[in-house]
Amino acid sequence: MVTNLQSIVIASICLVSVFVVGENNEVTVPAVRVVRLQVDYRNASVSDLQKIHKWNAIMRNSVLASLKFINKHWLICGGSPSDSSSSSNADCGKAQVTGEIVGDRHYRINVTLIAERDPVKNAKVGATSTVYAVAHIGLKGGIFQYTNALKTLGKPEPKLAFDEAFFCYRGATLVDTDKCRKDRRLRDSPLLDSVDTPIPLANLLAL
Ligand SMILES: *[C@@H]1O[C@H](CO)[C@@H](O)[C@H](O)[C@H]1NC(C)=O
Ligand SMILES: *[C@@H]1O[C@H](CO)[C@@H](O)[C@H](O)[C@H]1NC(C)=O
Repeated sequence: MVTNLQSIVIASICLVSVFVVGENNEVTVPAVRVVRLQVDYRNASVSDLQKIHKWNAIMRNSVLASLKFINKHWLICGGSPSDSSSSSNADCGKAQVTGEIVGDRHYRINVTLIAERDPVKNAKVGATSTVYAVAHIGLKGGIFQYTNALKTLGKPEPKLAFDEAFFCYRGATLVDTDKCRKDRRLRDSPLLDSVDTPIPLANLLAL
């Protein structure tokens, strides 16, 4: 037997749940922007690379340093909403750097990172640009070439390959190309993971 009080409580709980679910359905947040930059070296001393101890680590650190250098001037490195700007600079949007030998003298570096949306802001003056444009300016300025570590690769191609994609954190679905909408949940399922729980970048990219 259900008392009056019990039914009022149950009715209120249902009402609250319906309200919360309805509200979540309306809410969208900006999706995470992941960009990929590709630098090709078509005159690399590929055979020498294999003799360099810890080449991959050296190459990664060098590219990360280049990204941080750009980020000092143009705020390109993105982060999850909970990251402070200093921590998003430390790893520049969880940048992942891979290198591969493509051919005889051809080496390619892929860089994937969480980036700010365009237009990106200048760190000092009131100017804006795009991630692609500032990375390109960096390439022309020699940041992917002049350090001792990358000298073995020779001169990079003058043009970067660039693409981007948008991702949502767990519990949300991509809508309108670049927004995330919280998924509808069963009324009585606890809010296990909120939109703020980041998915490891490797998983993001595997999507
Ligand atoms: C290719 O690299 C060699 C050194 O490994 C250099 O002597 C030569 O000038 C380079 N060629 C071009 C077209 O950059
Ligand atoms: C680099 O990116 C290209 C796609 O543009 C992909 O085919 C290749 O497997 C990537 N290489 C590495 C080492 O991640």
